[in-house]
Amino acid sequence: MIAQRTILTDEMVAKIEALAPRYPNRRALTLPALHIVNAELRHVPLQAVAEIAAVLGLAPAEVQDTLTFYEFFHQEKPHGTVRAFVCRSVSCALRGGDHLLEHLCHTNGIPPYGTTVDGSLTIEPAECLGACDFAPCILANDDLLKNMTPEAAEAELKKPRARAT
Ligand code: FES
Repeated sequence: MIAQRTILTDEMVAKIEALAPRYPNRRALTLPALHIVNAELRHVPLQAVAEIAAVLGLAPAEVQDTLTFYEFFHQEKPHGTVRAFVCRSVSCALRGGDHLLEHLCHTNGIPPYGTTVDGSLTIEPAECLGACDFAPCILANDDLLKNMTPEAAEAELKKPRARAT
């Protein structure tokens, strides 16, 4: 018996089902489904995992396995409305990426992977964002911030921006 859904909305389920024809089987929908839920909730709580599993006809452990394979998904609490990935790979590191990360964490009073008390910003170290020409760079939701200085990054991250999808 499928338990009552309390986290996944009809819209989320409709989005998941709309993708089904593009995938060879229901299991292959696991990652897209996690992204759909994460885009709405900014995290994927355990109950959502159980509900995704019910929608896909999988065991909750199978969905949880996929979720925990990727550092991308938060489970305990939502990430900030702005989620900033600060690149720390070699090109960015050589051009001050480590200092950038340190500065942003310090000025916002949070450790790496932390979220500000008001929930407006999460700062996470990231591996190469594929934009080495613009090092050091940051991915803030869907916006690539190029050639960042600590001051420019601070100002950029205060600007309102669309939620990542
Ligand atoms: S090393 Fe930072 S974008 Fe490639």
